Amino acid sequence: MDSFLYYGDNLEILRNYIADESVDLIYLDPPFNSKADYNLLFKEPTGRPSQAQITAFEDTWRWTEETERILKEVVDIAPADIVELMISFRKILKHSDVMAYLTMMCIRLIELKRVLRQTGSIYLHCNPSASHYLKILMDAVFGKNNYRNEIVWCYKSRPMSKKHFCKKHDIILYYSKSDKYHFDWKANLQPLSPVTIKKYKYKDDIGHYRLVGRGIKGSPIQSAKDVDIEWENTYPELVVRDYLKGGYPIEDYWYIDIINQSARERLGYPTQKPEALLERIIKASSQEGDVVLDPFCGCGTSIAVAQNLNRNWIGIDITHLAINLIKLRIKNMFDMIPKRDYSVIGEPEDLAGAYELANQNRFQFQFWALALIDACPYGDKKKGADTGIDGFIYFWESKDEVKKVIVQVKSGKVGVKDIRELQSVVDREKAAIGIFLTLEKPTRAMMAEAAGFGFYTSKITRKDYSKCQILTIEEVLFGNQPHLPGDFRISPFKKAAFRLSSNQNSIFE
Ligand SMILES: C[S@@+](CC[C@H](N)C(=O)[O-])C[C@H]1O[C@@H](n2cnc3c(N)ncnc32)[C@H](O)[C@@H]1O
Repeated sequence: MDSFLYYGDNLEILRNYIADESVDLIYLDPPFNSKADYNLLFKEPTGRPSQAQITAFEDTWRWTEETERILKEVVDIAPADIVELMISFRKILKHSDVMAYLTMMCIRLIELKRVLRQTGSIYLHCNPSASHYLKILMDAVFGKNNYRNEIVWCYKSRPMSKKHFCKKHDIILYYSKSDKYHFDWKANLQPLSPVTIKKYKYKDDIGHYRLVGRGIKGSPIQSAKDVDIEWENTYPELVVRDYLKGGYPIEDYWYIDIINQSARERLGYPTQKPEALLERIIKASSQEGDVVLDPFCGCGTSIAVAQNLNRNWIGIDITHLAINLIKLRIKNMFDMIPKRDYSVIGEPEDLAGAYELANQNRFQFQFWALALIDACPYGDKKKGADTGIDGFIYFWESKDEVKKVIVQVKSGKVGVKDIRELQSVVDREKAAIGIFLTLEKPTRAMMAEAAGFGFYTSKITRKDYSKCQILTIEEVLFGNQPHLPGDFRISPFKKAAFRLSSNQNSIFE
């Protein structure tokens, strides 16, 4: 197994797990400092996006003790150029959010340079509000001689602005680690338009396609030979007949549609990037069998594309919402499962790990626990009132009727009172079943209370299911699942289309 998915802060993961010069290509798409919270959208059983949103991640960076400590660390360990730059930034930007962002990025970029091979490349995806600072920072970390491109990704989207020109592009800063970097210019040729092909039509004596008529730059062309010369002057490595088949090298501005509401690949994860964008980068700057690293991997766009192009990959994300979604995405797309086809690191594997996660962060514990039974997380307790619902499961009651299961997750002490509360939420929500998922073992009194709620009988399966089911995390880790009309369950996640990993045909047309 050469591919890895890590849960955790990428700085720690890079330092603890990723060896020097072990990665061929890095793509990173960090939160932009746009002061926004990004909500993960689930799908209703009707197929429409759900109103239930949950904050997947926040990108508001603040100057805190942590950033102060990291800046000090940069000053202590970084090469002189970087230190001088950061000190200058600090003079201008003071303790602003942008300074916090640059500090957190600086320490990570230093680690990313360490793990990149001499032949490797890095693509930093950012937006124009901070790209000018990041470019200077990238110059300082990777060396200005290793700057390759500022790629402008243009797209159409709402909202429009009446106060200035509409801001409809992102910036991707492309640097290499040295001047011996891998770059396949033929990987992304742009096909000639049908109009051009028609205009400069072809045919030579031995059946090769050739341009005839006027030269591309408008000069008259007398013979097929002239065309060869014309093109060889413009693109010395191209031969006209190949050119007609392949196209010409692409520029550094790319029009690629964003993932809109109806996009086939849309999974509901905020800031999800198009596969076509990642495909260009990965094809140009890596080869089959290479290692692609994405330290802010979100719902795993880079991972899915890397897998499809037969690259090994390393993905890191700090939320279980993302890790769970990636696992589902690559299961649906490539039928790949953890442990057999790739490793997942940082997720609890046993009861002790579950306790550790619950102690570290009970929201992350909840996301992780809900994924164990394929439930959809609900509500943002950090933001609003506790509804007594942590997650949902839906299933079909009949051809056109859907039933709801309420899930509660508990990481602390539990008692009979909690079971009664769950049942009152089940009644209030007119749900069929309540599931109580607990880290601590339930008492006998709790089991008796739950049994007293009786059964729900499915109209489809005609079987009885306990109306209140208690499951421990330990039982689930041993393979137990809630007792539900399993075949009729409805996934809250949009399913990524199945694809066979292939190096033959691009499936991202
Ligand atoms: C802009 S999104 C990436 C979206 C991704 N490119 C995609 O196509 O889905 C940024 C991601 O970085 C993650 N993140 C933020 N801080 C992190 C950190 N310190 N370590 C690891 N991941 C982090 C967030 O949880 C979020 O999923």
